[in-house]
Amino acid sequence: MLKSVLAISQGIKPAVTPIWFMRQAGRYLPEYRKVREKLQDFIQFVLNSEAAAEVTLQPLARFDLNAAIIFSDILMVPYAMGVDVKFVESIGPVIQPINDIADIDLSLDRQKEVYGKISKSISMVAKELSGDIALIGFSGSPWTVMCYMIEGVISKNFQKVKAFYLSNPKKWDTIVDHLIESTVIYLSAQVEAGAEVIKLFDSWAGAVAHEDFEKLIINPTKTIVDRLKEKYPHVPIIGFPKGCGMMYVDYALKSGVDILAIDQHIPINWAKNNLQNNIVLQGNMDNMLLAYAPDRIKKTVNNIMQGFGNKNFIFNLGHGILPQTKIENILLTIEGIRHHEGDK
Ligand code: CP3
Repeated sequence: MLKSVLAISQGIKPAVTPIWFMRQAGRYLPEYRKVREKLQDFIQFVLNSEAAAEVTLQPLARFDLNAAIIFSDILMVPYAMGVDVKFVESIGPVIQPINDIADIDLSLDRQKEVYGKISKSISMVAKELSGDIALIGFSGSPWTVMCYMIEGVISKNFQKVKAFYLSNPKKWDTIVDHLIESTVIYLSAQVEAGAEVIKLFDSWAGAVAHEDFEKLIINPTKTIVDRLKEKYPHVPIIGFPKGCGMMYVDYALKSGVDILAIDQHIPINWAKNNLQNNIVLQGNMDNMLLAYAPDRIKKTVNNIMQGFGNKNFIFNLGHGILPQTKIENILLTIEGIRHHEGDK
C-alpha cells in the first residue's frame, strides 16, 4: 500500500486524509519529559540516536497519525558548522552571533559527524515504522537559519539580520552559499537513511519585505529543492514559509516544493481559491486551540475539512504543538477529522 502522504504528493487519492502535527514529539507528553529529564542538554539529546528515535516514535504509539517527523532541530545545521548554539531553559536557543564566513567551520568532518548521528536516528525510526506512516526529515531554510546565526536570539524587528543583508550583500551571499551546501548534504544523508519526505522550515519568512522575498526566501529554497530533486526525484518536499501571507502564492508557484504548509493566519477560502489548485496544502489549525479552547476544536476541524479535506490536503497545525497542550485535545482533533471522513 502506498502511504497516504506519498500518494497525495503523486496526485493519487490517499486511503485517508493524512494527519500529523508539527512538534508532535515534545514537552506536552509525559513520556517525552521523562527522557528529557535524563538528557538535560538539548543538543546532546538530539545527538543521542536512541533517545531521539524513542521520542520520535512516542506520539505514534498514542495517536492515529500518518507521519513521523524525526526529532532534531533546525539549529543543528549551524551547530554542525561550528557555530556556538545552546538551548537555554525557558529562553530557547541562544547563539553566539556570527559576523563573517571566518566564524564558520567549513571543514566537513564536524558536519559529517553531526549529520551522521541524526541519520542514525532516522534509520532506527525507519526500521520501527509500519503501516500508513511516512517518515519526514527536515531542515531550516537559509533565511530562517541566518536569522538565528546573525541575531543570536530572535528579536522583534529582525533589524540585525536585515542590516547585515542590506549592508554586506557579498558576505551574505557567501555565507548563504555555504549554508545551502551544508543543508543539501544534511538532507541527502536523511533521505539515504530512510526519510521519505523532506520539510523545509522557513519560520521567519513573514519578516521579509515583499521586494526581497524572491531573493531571500524563494531562491535559496529553490536551489535546495532543485539539488535534492536531481538526486531524489521521488521524495516529496514540504515548504513552510510561515507567516508570509499573500506571498504564499509566489512561493507555491516558484519554489518547486510539492506541498505547501500554511499557518493559521491564512483564511481557508482564500487558500482554497488561491493556492490549492496548484499545490497540495498542509495546515492550518490554530495550535492555541489545542491548549486553551477544547470547545472550539470540533467546529474548527469541520471548517478545515470542509474547506480543504476532500482533495490534496494534509491535516496539520499552523504552528507547533505547545507544551501546554492537553493530550485529550489531540485525540478530539483526530477523532473529528476521521469522523468527517466517514461522513463523505
Ligand atoms: O516537529 C517535531 O516533532 C520535530 C522536532 C522539531 C523540533 N524543532 C524539536 C524541538 C522541529 C521540526 C523543530 C524545528 C524548529 N526549531 C523550528 C521551525 C519550526 C517552528 O517552530 O517555527 C524552529 C524555529 C526551531 C528553533 C527552536 N528550537 C526554538 C525557537 C526552540 C525553543 C522553543 C521551545 O519550544 O522550547 C527550540 C527547542 C526545541 N526544538 C524543542 C523541541 C521539542 C523544545 C526543547 C525542550 O524539550 O525543552
